[in-house]
Amino acid sequence: MKKIALVLGCLILLISSCSKKQHKPIPSYIEEPHSFSQPNEAVITHMDLDINVNFDNEIIQGKASYLIENNEASQIILDSKFLTIENVQADGKDTTFSLGNFDEQLGNPLKIDINKSTKQITVFYKTTHKTEALQWLKPQQTADKVHPFLFTQGQAILTRTWIPIQDSPQIRITYNAKVHVPSQLMAVMSAENPKTKTSDGHYTFKMTQPISPYLIALAVGDIEYKAISNRTGIYAEKSMVEKAHYEFSDMENMVASAEALYGTYAWEQFDVIVLPPSFPFGGMENPRLTFATPTVIAGDKSLTSLIAHELAHSWSGNLVTNATWDDFWLNEGFTVYFEMRIMEALYGKDRANMLARIGRQDLEEEIAGFKESPEDTKLKLNLKGRNPDDGMNSIAYDKGYLFLRTLEETVGREKFDTFLKSYFKKHAFSTINTEKFVAFLNKNLLEKYSITFNTDEWIYNAGIPDNQAIISSDKFETVEKTIQQFVKTNMVDEALTKGWTTQEWVHFVRNFPSDIKTEHLTMIDAAFNLTNSNNSYIAMVWYEQAINHDYHGNNIDAKIEDFLIKVGRRWYVSTIYKAFKRNNKTDAALAIYNKARSNYHSVTANTIDDLLAFNKD
Ligand code: BES
Ligand code: ZN
Repeated sequence: MKKIALVLGCLILLISSCSKKQHKPIPSYIEEPHSFSQPNEAVITHMDLDINVNFDNEIIQGKASYLIENNEASQIILDSKFLTIENVQADGKDTTFSLGNFDEQLGNPLKIDINKSTKQITVFYKTTHKTEALQWLKPQQTADKVHPFLFTQGQAILTRTWIPIQDSPQIRITYNAKVHVPSQLMAVMSAENPKTKTSDGHYTFKMTQPISPYLIALAVGDIEYKAISNRTGIYAEKSMVEKAHYEFSDMENMVASAEALYGTYAWEQFDVIVLPPSFPFGGMENPRLTFATPTVIAGDKSLTSLIAHELAHSWSGNLVTNATWDDFWLNEGFTVYFEMRIMEALYGKDRANMLARIGRQDLEEEIAGFKESPEDTKLKLNLKGRNPDDGMNSIAYDKGYLFLRTLEETVGREKFDTFLKSYFKKHAFSTINTEKFVAFLNKNLLEKYSITFNTDEWIYNAGIPDNQAIISSDKFETVEKTIQQFVKTNMVDEALTKGWTTQEWVHFVRNFPSDIKTEHLTMIDAAFNLTNSNNSYIAMVWYEQAINHDYHGNNIDAKIEDFLIKVGRRWYVSTIYKAFKRNNKTDAALAIYNKARSNYHSVTANTIDDLLAFNKD
C-alpha cells in the first residue's frame, strides 16, 4: 500500500513538474513609465544581432532576432525610436506589425502580431540620422585623425534608437552579435571581445550573462588592445594606448579590492575603452567593457576614481539593476559608496574623504538649484512623463552615497559589509526597486540587529535628514586656510600648495570667497597657470570661476572656447555653460555653442539646448 502511494506521489510530482515546464510561469514585471513593452504578455530572453555599420551614409542596417517567452500572447511590443522597420518575421515567416503613435521621449511602440506558440521573432531594420544613441565621428574628431569612429550610448532609454528592443531595465537578455565594419576598423561590444583586428571587418560577439538593454554597447574605430592583467586591459586609438595603459595600471588591483569587499567579479573580463573626447559621460559601465572619456587621463592617475566607479557598477547596476529609472539611486548611490570603498582600500582614507567631500559640495549645490522643485531632491523619483535624464543628477549619486554612509556609520562597517555582500548575492542578475530594497534592508539589517533608522525619511522625503554623516577632511581644511591667507595678504605663498593633489586643487578653486576680486584671480593664475592646466577637472572648475568673477586674463576666453569645442563630456560642459547663464552671459555662451554643438553627442546637445534655450531651426 505504502509503495503504491509513493509511486503515485512520484507520478503526481513528475506530471506537475512537466506541466510547469510547458507553461513556464512568466515573472511579473512591474509597470514602468519609460517602455511600451508588456513583458508580462511576451518577453524577449535572447537576441541575435546581425548588422552592417556603414560609415559612408552613417547608417546601421541589419536584423535583430529574439527568442521570446510567450504567455499565450497575440502580440509582442518592442520599443523603437527613429528606426525604419523594413520587415518582421515570427518563427521565420513574415508577419504583420504596426508602429504606434510617436512619443517625444519614448518613441514608437512596435507592435508585432504573433500567435500563442510563437517562440522567435526577427526585425529587419535600419537606423536613421535622427538616432540618439549613436555618435558618428569624423577622423578630425578622433585622437589619431585618420579614421572615423562610432560609439553608442544606451543608458537610459536610447538603445531603442539603434536596436528595436524591449528597452526597460527590468528586461534581461543574453546576446550574440555579428557586426560588419570597414576592414581598417575594429568593433568591440559589451561582450566577449576580439583583441586584434580581423582582415575582413567581420566580428562576432557573445554575451552569455543576461544584461539589461541599456547596457548593450558598440564602439567601432581604429583601436588597439593592451592588457594590464589577464582579465583587465585597455582599448584605445594608437596614440592613446600607452598613456591610458599607464593611467589605468591599477585596474587589476581595483578589481581585486572590489572582490575582497563584495564578492566575486561576475563578468570575467574588465576592460576599458578610451573614446574620443566628445563622449558625453565620464564613464559608462557597459559590461566587460567600460566606455571612458579621455579627459580622465591626467598623466598622474589622479582622476582614476572614475574607473573604480564604473567597476563598482559591475555589482550595483549590472548585476543588481534598478527596476525603473525612478530607482536610479539604487544604481548610482550604491556605486558611489562602493567607489569610495575601493578608493579607500587602495589609496587610504584621506583620498576617499576628499572625494566624498567634493561630492558633498556637489550635493549642496544641486539641492540649492532645486529650491523651486524640492520633489526632485528625493531619492525615489517619479519620472512618469519626463525624460529619465531629469533624474540623473547629484541627488542619486551624492545623496544616495550620504544615505549609505550614514547607514554604515550607524550600524558599523562590519555588519554593513556583510549586509551589502548578501544584497549583491541575493539579487544577482535580477532587478530591484526601492520598495524591495527597503524591505530587504529592514529584514536583513535593521530588524535583525534591532536598529532604528530613518530610512523612509532619507528615501521618500526631500532634502537631507539631520542625522547625516559628517564628512571631514583635514587636507581640505588646510586648503580652506590657504585660500583665506592668499586673499587676506593679497599674496600667493606657493610653498603652501606644495604637493597638492588634484582633489586639493579642485577644492581650492571651488571655494574662493564669493566676493573674491579679479586681482586675486590674476595673482593666482600668475602663480599657478590654472588657465593652462592639463588636468581637465582643475581647468573646468577654474573656467567656471573665471566666468563667475569676470576674469579674462591669460587668454582664458580662447581656452574656454577651445575646451567647449573639443570636449563633449556633459557634466563639464554644462557646468561651464551654466556659469555663463548664471552671470547673464548667455550670448557669449551661445556664440561658443554655435561652433561646438555639432561635436556633441545628442545627450549633451539636448541638455545644452534646454539650458540655453537654443533654437535648433
Ligand atoms: N551610468 C553612469 C552614466 C550615465 C548615467 C549615463 C545616466 C546615462 C544616464 C556612469 O556610471 C556615471 O555615473 N558616470 C559619471 C562618472 C562618475 C565617476 C560619477 C560621469 O559620467 O561623470
Ligand atoms: Zn555611475
